[in-house]
Amino acid sequence: MRMKMAFTFGAQGFILLAIAASFLVIGEARTIVVGGSEGWRPGFNYTDWALKTSPFYLNDKLVFKYAPPSDTYVAPNVYLLPNLYSYRTCNFNSAKLLATETQGSGEGFEFVLINKWRPVYFASAAEHGSHCSEGQMKFFVIPLPHPN
Ligand SMILES: *[C@@H]1O[C@H](CO)[C@@H](O)[C@H](O)[C@H]1NC(C)=O
Repeated sequence: MRMKMAFTFGAQGFILLAIAASFLVIGEARTIVVGGSEGWRPGFNYTDWALKTSPFYLNDKLVFKYAPPSDTYVAPNVYLLPNLYSYRTCNFNSAKLLATETQGSGEGFEFVLINKWRPVYFASAAEHGSHCSEGQMKFFVIPLPHPN
């Protein structure tokens, strides 16, 4: 009798634990490499990438990976643009530098999404802004709260 009780509680406990664990998995912050295996580089369509990778959730970590500059290679950087207009026109006047040309190497530059509902505009300003205006190195995400 005593054994049977213990088993019953054990099974319920296990089910509760399993349910709790599944919620944890849903709510877990993800690590997302910007551009996937392409990394952060001119010529790749990040608008398209963001579209296909969305939805983005609060506390997701974006990782920008790019090689440091060399004699033959102009490295990108990462800026936060203040609004849709500056994003559309690649205007970096009021932009905030997040990562310099050298900060994308190794593990890459990490940025955690914490602004719920608000669009976050990213772009590279390198090559006098042409990484953004011609190289398609811009995208935005709108972090959503977790579904649970
Ligand atoms: C990039 O992708 C977006 C979304 O799919 C698309 O609208 C746009 O035309 C693409 N840009 C280029 C230059 O291919």
